[in-house]
This record gives sequence, C-alpha cells and structure tokens, in this order.
Amino acid sequence: MSHLSERPEAPVVGVPMPHESAGQHVTGTALYTDDLVHRTKDVLHAYPVQVMKAHGVITALRTGPALAVPGVVRVLTGADVPGVNDAGMKQDEPLFPDEVMFHGHAVAWVLGETLEAARLGAAAVEVELDEQPSLLTLQEAIAADSFHGAQPVVVTGDVDAGFADSAHVFSGEFQFSGQEHFYLETHAALAQIDENGQVFIQSSTQHPSETQEIVAHVLGVHSHEVTVQCLRMGGGFGGKEMQPHGFAAVAALGAKLTGRPVRFRLNRTQDLTMSGKRHGFHAEWKIGFDADGRIQALEACLTADGGWSLDLSEPVLARALCHIDNTFWIPNARVAGRIAKTHAVSNTAFRGFGGPQGMLVIEDILGRCAPQLGLDPMQLRERNFYQPGQGQTTPYGQPVTQPERISTVWQQVHEDGGLADRKREIAAFNAAHPHTKRALALTGVKFGISFNLTAFNQGGALVLIYKDGSVLINHGGTEMGQGLHTKMLQVAATTLGIPLHKVRLAPTRTDKVPNTPATAASSGADLNGGAVKNACEQLRRRLLQVAASQLGANASDVRIVEGVARALGSDKELAWDELVHTAYFQRVQLSASGFYRTEGLHWDAKTFRGSPFKYFAHGAAATEVEVDGFTGAYRIRRVDIVHDVGDSLSPMIDIGQVEGGFVQGAGWLTLEDLRWDTSDGPNRGRLLTQAASTYKLPSFSEMPEEFNVTLLENATEEGAVYGSKAVGEPPLMLAFSVREALREAAAAFGPAGVSVELASPATPEAVFWAIEAARGGAVQLNGHAHKAAHNGGEVRTGTSSLSNA
Ligand code: MTE
Ligand code: MOS
Repeated sequence: MSHLSERPEAPVVGVPMPHESAGQHVTGTALYTDDLVHRTKDVLHAYPVQVMKAHGVITALRTGPALAVPGVVRVLTGADVPGVNDAGMKQDEPLFPDEVMFHGHAVAWVLGETLEAARLGAAAVEVELDEQPSLLTLQEAIAADSFHGAQPVVVTGDVDAGFADSAHVFSGEFQFSGQEHFYLETHAALAQIDENGQVFIQSSTQHPSETQEIVAHVLGVHSHEVTVQCLRMGGGFGGKEMQPHGFAAVAALGAKLTGRPVRFRLNRTQDLTMSGKRHGFHAEWKIGFDADGRIQALEACLTADGGWSLDLSEPVLARALCHIDNTFWIPNARVAGRIAKTHAVSNTAFRGFGGPQGMLVIEDILGRCAPQLGLDPMQLRERNFYQPGQGQTTPYGQPVTQPERISTVWQQVHEDGGLADRKREIAAFNAAHPHTKRALALTGVKFGISFNLTAFNQGGALVLIYKDGSVLINHGGTEMGQGLHTKMLQVAATTLGIPLHKVRLAPTRTDKVPNTPATAASSGADLNGGAVKNACEQLRRRLLQVAASQLGANASDVRIVEGVARALGSDKELAWDELVHTAYFQRVQLSASGFYRTEGLHWDAKTFRGSPFKYFAHGAAATEVEVDGFTGAYRIRRVDIVHDVGDSLSPMIDIGQVEGGFVQGAGWLTLEDLRWDTSDGPNRGRLLTQAASTYKLPSFSEMPEEFNVTLLENATEEGAVYGSKAVGEPPLMLAFSVREALREAAAAFGPAGVSVELASPATPEAVFWAIEAARGGAVQLNGHAHKAAHNGGEVRTGTSSLSNA
C-alpha cells in the first residue's frame, strides 16, 4: 500500500474543478431536504408551539383548542414519547420540556394537513406558565454563579515564576459576541415509515449517525430501525452538528404516531429564535512580557455563554482553551474555562468550534498591549511565534510540528503584499488626513486538526464497482457546500486510476456507512478521504491481479492510469471497463468497505493534556482598512492571504473555502450583532435581531476591494490523504486581521503609544467609540512595571480594566 500522502501518476486530486453540484446550485435544480416534500404524498406539516417568555414552569398545556382547528391532525407533547424525552447527548435537553428555558422554547408541536392548519393549531394551544427569574447575559450568570458542565484548566510551566520574571504585566477583560449561522437552508427534516414500521428520515444534518441515535432513543427503538439520509445541506457551519437531532425526532415521532410522512422546515425567525449560535465569551486575563515583549506568562479565565443546555459547549470550550496560544509560544500559562448557564438558546458548534474564541483573546491581548510595549503589533506578534528547533509545546503539551510554517506564510504575505512599502504610504496618508485614517494589520493562524475526542477521528466508506466499469462511492461525510463530495470523487478517481466521470457519489446514509462522526472539525476530507482511499486500494489490488494475468505481467508491475492498465516494459493495454468486466466473470468481489482512523492521537480530558491534533493548519492575512473619523464607518481596501492546505485536493474548492471562511469571520468580528431584550419588561429574553433586516450579514458591499488568496505551494502534509490539509474552519480566523487593522486605524486618531480597546463586533458605532477614546488618549491598560529598568512601558491605571491581582 502506498503512503497516505503519496500521489500516483496523473492524479485527479490537485486538479482545479468546480463543486460537483455547481451547475445545479446556480440553476436552482439542486434539491435540499424540504424540496423532497413536493415529491412525497400525504405529508403532514409540523409546527412548533413556542412560548415567548425567557423562563417559567409550565402549569398547564391545553391542546384541545388546537384539535378544534380544521386540518389539525395531532398535537405532539411529552406524553407521546415512547422512549427518552431528550434531544441531546447529555440528557439535559428535554425534547418536550416542562420548563421553558429560553424565549421561544418549543414545548409542543402541531401536525396539520397544511402548514397553515398546523400554524393556526400551534397558535391555539394554551400554555400557562409560572414565570421565573431569568439570567440572560454572561454578567448576570457569572454574578449568580450559574454554570454547567466541566470547568477545565490548562496549566503549563510555572505561572507565578513567569510573572515574577516579567518586565511588564498587564491585565484586562474582554467580552465578545457570538454569531448566528444564517445558513441559507434553515433546519428541516422529512420522516417516513415503511410497511415494517422502519423509520426513514431525510434530515439537514452534519451528523446523520447521531441524528439516528437520538431518534432511536426518542422512539425507544434500536438504531437499525432508523435510517437517516442527508442529500446535501444549504450550509451547516456547525449549526447542524447537534441541533438537528431533536427536530428530526419530532418529525419521526409524528410519522410513527400517524403512519404518515411528517415534514417541518423552520422559517427564518423560528430558526433564529430556537437554534443555538456561536458562543459569546467573556475573558479575564493577565499577561507578563519580558523587556523585549516576549510573553513570559499568561493567566486567563474564559467563560462561554452555553445557553440553557450543554449541547456541544464542553468540547467547544476545550477547543477554545487549546487555541489560546494561536501562533505564540507561552512558556507559563494557567487558563481556566467554564460554561455559563443562561436562559438563552443552547449555543453550539460554529466554524472553528471555540478555536476562534480562544485565539481572539490572545490576539486582542497582543493588539492592546503592543502600544504600551512600544512595539509595532506586527513586531510583537512575530517576536512571539513558536520557533523551530526549540522543542516547544503548546500549553496543553502537544509538540508544535512545523513551527517554521508560521513564519513562512507570514513572510510570504509580507513580501507578496508589499507590506513594507504600504506601511510607509499609509503613514504618509495618515499624516495628511486628519479625519480619515488607514491601517494595515497582519495576523496569523495556527489551528489544530482532529477532534479533541480521539474516538471521533474515524471514517468509513463503501465503494461499489458495477460490471460496466462505473463506480459509486458512499462515505460517512455530509455535503454542506464545502466541497467534500467533490474531493471524495477526486480521491476515488485518483486511487482507482480512472477519469472522474466514471465515479458517482450517493447521498450520505446511515445504512451504508455506520457510526460516523459529524462532518465537522474540518476533518471531513481527512477522515472520509482516508476511508474512500482505503476502499479503493482494496479494489485496485484485486483488479491489478486480474490485469496482471491478462497482460502476462506481475501485479506489482501493473499501473492503472487514466482508465488504462499497462504493465511496465510492455505495450499491451487493458481498458478499465474491460478489466472490470473480466474481473466480474472471474468472480472477483467488486465492492469494498473502507475505514480510516487517525493514528497517533491522545488526549486526557481530565488533565487537559495530550496531543489531540494530527497536525496544524496555518495561514496569514494582511488587511488594510480606511476609517472615517466622524462616523466610524470603514471599508476594507485590500486583503492578502497565504493559506496552508498542504497539497490541495481541489484548489478551486479550497480557495472558495478560504475566501468564504475569511468573509464569515469578518462578519462575526465587524457586522453581525446579536441583540436580546435584556430589560425587565414583558419581552425580556426576546431575540431582537430576528431577521436579515436587523442582523447584518456581509454582502457584496462589504467585500474587500482587492482580495488576493494564495495557497501555500509544495506543502505536502505527510499525515493526511494525498498530502492535503483540512481547510474548512481555519481561514475564518484570518479575519482577525480586519479587527486589528480597525483597532490600529482608530489608534491613529490619537497620540502614539495608546492602547485601544475595541468592542466585538467592531461595528462602525464601536469603531467610532474606539476613535473617541483614542483621541482622548485615556484608554490605558491596567498594569505595572515589574522591573526597575524597562523601555516604553509606562503604564497608568485604566478606567475600564479589571484590577490587578
Ligand atoms: N463551507 C460551506 N460552504 N458551508 C458550510 O456549512 N461549514 C464549515 C466548513 N466550510 C461549511 C463550509 C465547517 S463549520 C466545517 S467543520 C467544515 O466546512 C466541514 O466540512 P469539512 O470537514 O469537509 O471541511
Ligand atoms: Mo464545524 S463548527 O466543526 O461543524
């Protein structure tokens, strides 16, 4: 068997090609879960009964009035659940709750002959509530000591000694917002029952195996009685990693009880008010630097806003803690994490899965400290990069492989982007323009690839070759627009040595490939690609034997390239179709199941130490912004990115992922502003940003005026399929450069050497206030000089920082 990263002659991987469904996407012919409803007869429509209070115990639930509505067939309540009344993996998420835990919590579902009947039925259900006090914000939860789940701590080195050795010690606080996924396709499922009572659910889910498991629990049946299929999703972004399960279970329960197909698709407002989002975080920190600005010690406490149930909050927090270092070596650290329990939707996975939150904290710290250390932020960052040849490990104890990549991508952006010249031009521009300032910031990304939980790092595939030579592949991953299926087609064609058009891909189904992990953690291509390759290698080995006997050669001398088998040193040829046909008549098995597991991982969730990641993905981005001093309005003038995807499996797909990830990150950090009613009025807890009209998403007008994305070349990753690296999430964090550029532009309105705090999201309003503060020169980090002699570190006690312990 060839090495995992080795590419054969004329590989189909590495060839730039459009997404396998691009034609259907742009012509509107691609089908999504809810489109299948129109092809299904006798469908019932499910509609949630949402309670519009933040917290309260249900004292009465009257379904009678709903049943009186024409067209209403049934109302589903907790009493109908034959199995476990829970939608999650932690048993803390009742599917039909007795207690309303957030504004908009669904407590029952109405089934109707039409959507309108179901809607009117839901409106007729009477719910009486004993209202309870609610905790909405992180501050309220922290003050009330309201937490749930584990409270891990990452410790490395000797933090107290590190601070004692520091020339400069600063401390501060930072709170930043979560983010709405805003996938174009909202949550949807369609459940059907066959003649044996078997359940078939088409669900927009990133994790079909877990949807299957939860549905089975709710129905009180075994997993082999439930099949989940996902054709494709109109975006998931982590929002469909765990959240679809309960919804799918409602549809399955309805189908089971009525014997009819049941569908639902949340409308946008339901999706926004019922489903979890990226966790907002609060961070409290203290950092020590030596006289030259090298980090000596970091102490921090991160609090994630978990919402009402745990969902994926614990692993999200774990990834946040495991990314607090980003690209920087922190010799001594103590970083604690906890999950606030609030009366809000249950926050969940979102592209980066906590990694962005951890990394944002350290990037914010460096951005704030640089002026007070008398250093250019670029210099401060570069000075703290992990260094090759030093055996440095992350705070959780994993050796940093390829530390040189951090500076390689950084330098390339620096040179290709002409940063040195542009910095000079910007200084000249700023000197000449009192009311408009420009700034250019460069930030880096190091992102660990693999699930922290070792067990999830496995993939499966089932590859079928039919007698006519056509190939059908099944694998455990789901398609959400990220191009996984395109890559899997390319992997199969490469391994078998055939043209791409010979290979087709079947929808993801739990009865084809069992026990799959979520398509998440960016590992879809690594895990499923490994499994597809493994299955295809088994088939190729069998076919090489057949070819060898036909060609009169040794199997080890036969190659199949572009659909033709040839033996070395012979001009005889055997076409693929003929080879397959021959193999069939020789009764050679033409199907194989493939399996892959990532080797070499270990993680101790108790001590929070280990090597949970197979490798790190790297990138660097330089962003130039221009800010208006009167309004805080800004535009992104130019972005230059160099990103490391190893040897790309599919360059067009990967560039799309880098661009999309960057823009989504920029949306999180600059525009997307989730607001809730936190007053004590009757609407306390209501999401105020319930539509695209009030929740601002990036659109064409926010695109960088110049946007250069380059994939790092000659970047073979030995540990992954055909030398590639995961790409789905890491580019999101390249958007830190936007935020840091805005901070520096705001700073340019004030005197030099002033630390600027910037709210996140950095909306024009937030930038305006940062400019005001910079002009006043008043924002200084709380800190103190430790050693008598140091340069540029004059510190005053700030107004907005926490006190120094
Ligand atoms: N790209 C598109 N177009 N749509 C998505 O929903 N999800 C992202 C990323 N890129 C997403 C996307 C997230 S959160 C992850 S984890 C990865 O894709 C998952 O797919 P992969 O593992 O195949 O990269
Ligand atoms: Mo992505 S947040 O791991 O689905």
